[in-house]
Amino acid sequence: MTVVITLPAAPRILSPQLSYRLSGEVFSMSVSSSILQTRLADLVQDDPRITPVLDRFGLDYCCRGYRTLQEASIDQHVAVSDVLEELQAIGPRPDTCDAAAWTDLPGLIRHIVTRHHRYVREHQPVLQALLDKLVKRHGAGHPELIEVRVLFESLSEEMLQHMNKEENILFPYIETLANTSAGQSRPPSPFGTILNPIRAMEQEHLEAGNLLERLRALTSAYQAPADACMSYRLCFEGLAQFESDLHQHVYLENYVLFPRAIAMEGALG
Ligand SMILES: [Fe+2]
Ligand SMILES: [Fe+2]
Repeated sequence: MTVVITLPAAPRILSPQLSYRLSGEVFSMSVSSSILQTRLADLVQDDPRITPVLDRFGLDYCCRGYRTLQEASIDQHVAVSDVLEELQAIGPRPDTCDAAAWTDLPGLIRHIVTRHHRYVREHQPVLQALLDKLVKRHGAGHPELIEVRVLFESLSEEMLQHMNKEENILFPYIETLANTSAGQSRPPSPFGTILNPIRAMEQEHLEAGNLLERLRALTSAYQAPADACMSYRLCFEGLAQFESDLHQHVYLENYVLFPRAIAMEGALG
């Protein structure tokens, strides 16, 4: 038996005529808009509202946003049909929900620093203290918590150093570029072209993404065990939110801020 299902209310990039077929026990799929071959970063750029769905399935759209939906689903061992169903449930995208609207790079930098860098600085000590407490109370019964604590500590240290570099070196230079008029020469920098610090930041994003993936695997996608106490649950919920915020943060840098800054530099003499 073949069943064709049309999903008319999908986000813009998913439409038109998104469909898939069920044939007996074997699930097969044909998607006219080639969503399966679309990079995760491009899907998010088209509709940022899909990020909670990608987070739920562990599909990293920032540090590994270059993977297609199909590649990422295979890597994470998730059924792409399940992802598509959840994406479809989001409904049509309102026009106000467009990452492409960030044309003011100093404004975007302010948003990244005040929203996402601040989030890391505020939540990191709280989560680290909760993990310390969990290891003391439950480390014997749940030894994976010991590695979770170590991984989160590494991630925190790397992110704090990383954000300082962005705020003290890269972001001020992007602001200088934004204030340089067309026709003027490129402002001097201690690092040569902006590609150098950007490639270094992207590499650090990738390393942070690796740590997040290991945290997700160790915590069964941040699912606290059935016998978990309130602190345990709060900690895992906090870690899931930390991951989600970091994904949005890195996405804005890798796929919005950095490419536009590179283009801005290239346009100067
Ligand atoms: Fe950042
Ligand atoms: Fe960054």
